Amino acid sequence: MTIASPRVWDQPADRTPTDRAPADRAPADGATADHRGLPTTFGAGGSEPYAQALQGEDNVLYLHGHRTDADPGAAARVSTMHAGRWSAGADAIDRALVAGVAGPVLDIGCGPGRMIQAALDEGLDAFGVDVSPTAVRIALIAGLAVLQRSVFDYIPLEGTWATLLLVDGNIGIGGDPDALLDRCVSLLAADGVLVVEVHRDPEHDLAYEGTLHDAAGHTSDAFPWAEIGVSALRRRAANVGLVQVAEWTRGGRSFARFARA
Ligand SMILES: C[S@@+](CC[C@H](N)C(=O)[O-])C[C@H]1O[C@@H](n2cnc3c(N)ncnc32)[C@H](O)[C@@H]1O
Repeated sequence: MTIASPRVWDQPADRTPTDRAPADRAPADGATADHRGLPTTFGAGGSEPYAQALQGEDNVLYLHGHRTDADPGAAARVSTMHAGRWSAGADAIDRALVAGVAGPVLDIGCGPGRMIQAALDEGLDAFGVDVSPTAVRIALIAGLAVLQRSVFDYIPLEGTWATLLLVDGNIGIGGDPDALLDRCVSLLAADGVLVVEVHRDPEHDLAYEGTLHDAAGHTSDAFPWAEIGVSALRRRAANVGLVQVAEWTRGGRSFARFARA
């Protein structure tokens, strides 16, 4: 296994962040319940269903979406997520995402790190960033180079990443795709590419408050999340100077690639 150069990651972890989305600042100490009034991140807080799923056998998760402007009594939209897929090795569809891209690769919201490993297998320098202490611990044990930190906090090599990955719905991070796209622009090299897994409905564009649940009754705190299809994302990307250069669907999953206009 390739161990990525520590040179990239030996920056001070507590350097003052220069670019944070107000809606998505994660506690630097990895605590999930937010004692500073900052929003929780994906699946964190409460009885920690995301952390449980990454460590256990039962790893089907249910993402409940509540529109912030909806009647509090209104039923939540529920989508099913399989954390087992995130903990497993990359499949052929995942591997195709990093075939032919350039390094260094940064997987944003990398979870346990299957996409980092897939990129390493392609001979690329590859790194991950994630706020989840459990996901980061699993990735580190696997020998992967990951930072436990919000993507909106200080990230080494800012402005020089050749490839950024936002897969498994991670365009939803922070619940504000405009802020996340803007952050990606600041991370990308001049000739870098951003690979995004998008919603299968091209016009879908939805931000909401999510809670994560599992079959055992574990429930997270509420966190901001979003889903977006390719046409809606293309319009938002144009506002931050990105142009779509490719799109494809495979195995029921849809993707798009963006570069600077
Ligand atoms: C839908 S899961 C994706 C799983 C992941 N791609 C994998 O392969 O395991 C979303 C991931 O984004 C992470 N995340 C949420 N907010 C984040 C943030 N602000 N910065 C970095 N990672 C974040 C979560 O901790 C979680 O691991």
